[in-house]
Amino acid sequence: MILIQTFMLIAAYFFGCYPRYIWSKQIEELNHKIRQELTNHYFEKSSSTVSMQNQMINDLYLIKENYANSLLQIFYNLTVAIGVLFSLLSFHWSLCILSAVIAFLQILVPKLLETKLEEAGQNISNANQQYLKELGYWLVGISEIRRFLAGAKLFDILSTASFQPEKAIKKNQVVDSSLDFFNKVVYSLGDMLILILTGYLVIKKITQFGLISSISNFNWFLFGSLMAVSNFIGRIKSVIKVNQQVLQARENVTNKFNDNTGQIPVGLLIKDVSITFKNNKKIKFPNFKVKKGEKILLTGKSGIGKSTLFKIILGELQPDSGKVVYFGQTGEEIYPDLSKIGYLPQDPILFPTSIMNNITMFDSKINNNVQEAIKKVQLQDDLKELPEGLNTKIDLDKINISGGQRQKIILARAEIHNSRILLIDEGTSAIDKDNSSKIISQILKTDKTIVFIAHNLDKSTKAKFDRVISWKTN
Ligand SMILES: Nc1ncnc2c1ncn2[C@@H]1O[C@H](COP(=O)(O)OP(=O)(O)OP(=O)(O)O)[C@@H](O)[C@H]1O
Ligand SMILES: [Mg+2]
Repeated sequence: MILIQTFMLIAAYFFGCYPRYIWSKQIEELNHKIRQELTNHYFEKSSSTVSMQNQMINDLYLIKENYANSLLQIFYNLTVAIGVLFSLLSFHWSLCILSAVIAFLQILVPKLLETKLEEAGQNISNANQQYLKELGYWLVGISEIRRFLAGAKLFDILSTASFQPEKAIKKNQVVDSSLDFFNKVVYSLGDMLILILTGYLVIKKITQFGLISSISNFNWFLFGSLMAVSNFIGRIKSVIKVNQQVLQARENVTNKFNDNTGQIPVGLLIKDVSITFKNNKKIKFPNFKVKKGEKILLTGKSGIGKSTLFKIILGELQPDSGKVVYFGQTGEEIYPDLSKIGYLPQDPILFPTSIMNNITMFDSKINNNVQEAIKKVQLQDDLKELPEGLNTKIDLDKINISGGQRQKIILARAEIHNSRILLIDEGTSAIDKDNSSKIISQILKTDKTIVFIAHNLDKSTKAKFDRVISWKTN
């Protein structure tokens, strides 16, 4: 007998744990797939790093805890409740019907708090996103904060910022507790009604007297599991909105400005283009044409809109009037493949991988052209000083290369990729005058079309361009 009992205990334990293990394994696999889809989404649709972090970490965690795990619990508790209802039916049908009615009421309880539950879940996600944003803004400049010994101010600001997620979580707990309270009211009411009905059935000699003492056990199992079902439904409701947002983000987005079906542009025309930002700042761009192979220097005072013009040419920003016309090899107007325009942004980005990968951007087909690009941008001497040369991994935590070297790597990246137009936004601003002038001469020795934004170039360097466009007024 003891052996059987022990065996049953082990079996019960196994059957209790194994499904939970399988369930969480499947959820992790699903989360992995969702993260891949989200990566794809953020790859296609540029959005803030913060909302990506929030969705990949916080939202997926909320959904796993409140949605997926709740589903498993609901299934388990409903099985228990149905089992109890059948046992009650074996005593008397009226007990079963009354319990079913109360059970129905109990499952309706989360409906009462539906909007509050949804709001509370959404608030946690929003507050967390805001917190991450604030952290990002401050931590990106941590070295400056250290330099100015402004640590105390930083702790102050971050502790104020962390107050919002705390508040949202507390509010969520209040809503959870209200749900719990309503559930307990229905439970007590149900327990009392069933006890009265059992009393009546015993007096009428319809059931045996013993049922009076054991009915509470049945109630405890029945209403206990239904209370759990109701609480878990509430939890699911609290993440319905967050879940919808993740589902939306999982849908594939295709970048309409960059669909790869166009031709390679070699020249362009800016015609009556203007743009208005959300803050009503309006910029009118000068009209000009860039012919195939032309080398143009674009100058203009800070803030006039030079970098914005490049973003419009690249299709990253849409003008509200006018248009950019792109030309092909024979000067005909084309529908452009904008990914084929080489671009060197004013604040270039390096990735925490080897210098080689940063130049080729992981395209091994062009590995053989790296040496030539390195010579053109005068990077060979810098590489000699680095312990592993081209294989040196860029350490973004302890920036192990200089500002000038950074620009040279990015220039080599732009140089090596097969674009016919190169847009360079202050590409040599961090490189000393002599080298900068050498690099510019090298870069201009090409049949590519180049538009170069620069300040403070000396006369002889300026003269190397075919044309200088000085943008004066807006
Ligand atoms: N997303 C934006 N929202 C609102 N205003 C913006 C936005 N982007 C740029 N601006 C404004 O448009 C103007 C032009 O900015 P842009 O970066 O194109 O100038 P720039 O000529 O490249 O300046 P610099 O020589 O200093 O790099 C600036 O006044 C800037 O504040
Ligand atoms: Mg600029």
